[in-house]
Amino acid sequence: MSDKVLELPGLVDKIAVVTGASRGIGAAIARELARHGADVVLTARDPAPLAEVAAEVKSLGRRSTVVAGDLTLPDFGSKVVNAAIETFGRVDLLVNNAGATKRGNFVDLTDADWDDGFALKFFGAVRMCRLCWPELRKSRGAVLNIGGAGGRTPDKPFTIGSSVNAAMMAFTKALADLGREDDVRVNLVNPGLIRTDRLEKRIVDAMKADGITRELAEQQLSNQAAITHIGEAEDIARIVAFMLSDSGMLFHGSLVDADAGYTKGV
Ligand SMILES: NC(=O)c1ccc[n+]([C@@H]2O[C@H](COP(=O)([O-])OP(=O)(O)OC[C@H]3O[C@@H](n4cnc5c(N)ncnc54)[C@H](OP(=O)(O)O)[C@@H]3O)[C@@H](O)[C@H]2O)c1
Repeated sequence: MSDKVLELPGLVDKIAVVTGASRGIGAAIARELARHGADVVLTARDPAPLAEVAAEVKSLGRRSTVVAGDLTLPDFGSKVVNAAIETFGRVDLLVNNAGATKRGNFVDLTDADWDDGFALKFFGAVRMCRLCWPELRKSRGAVLNIGGAGGRTPDKPFTIGSSVNAAMMAFTKALADLGREDDVRVNLVNPGLIRTDRLEKRIVDAMKADGITRELAEQQLSNQAAITHIGEAEDIARIVAFMLSDSGMLFHGSLVDADAGYTKGV
């Protein structure tokens, strides 16, 4: 069988802004969109890994621009959008992926932890949507929000993340209602357990706490979540690219669980 990439329709020459694009799921999404012909605006705080992703995008024959900074700062989002317009002239696709919510015992989590969790993932996404909306309306573009399975299946070590991801789902549905009028598709993907730096910390913590091997720690995490397996960032990236492409035209206001069985409810 040929390993040639089958082109997804409607992504060639699209301009995609991807937040949290320096590693993990965001970097994989940026690479996957570039593989299907999109140019990308890459943003996160640390410029060095962003430059590596930019080099990978270049090696795939596409253009990128890097805007390094903290998405929790109120004026940073407009820098990203301005850079996209200065470099590429427009924005067609927005992927709100940046997120880092603290896990822990509820009583130990502080107001600052809650503020941080919402500031980056929820308010970062809201602000990027508002700033990009005029461009997306012009280009009849699309928004793809990355949520998380905890939004549907909240649990006690993940009070912040569960709440943020539930809010992301409600926001996605509400914005999709506006998007129907403005011709902007708005959707969300809920990953379950995906092998990235975020999950690596949980794996290492379990290895240390129980004195077990990596393989056992991963099995333990899979069993606790009752999932088939831990996914890879590329698994999420392929789903995101499909939903943003013309093949995903029927997705609108969709909240897609890509979680290996994490979500048990209907
Ligand atoms: N991995 C999973 O199992 C899993 C499961 C469910 C949902 N998710 C969701 O998927 C998304 C990506 O997760 P991931 O596992 O790929 O995370 P990750 O590997 O930790 O990457 C997070 C990305 O966000 C950026 N970021 C962090 N703080 C930022 C800030 N203040 N301003 C701007 N950018 C910032 C990071 O770059 P810098 O640090 O350089 O800023 C990085 O590019 C998150 O929304 C997460 O909640 C992940």
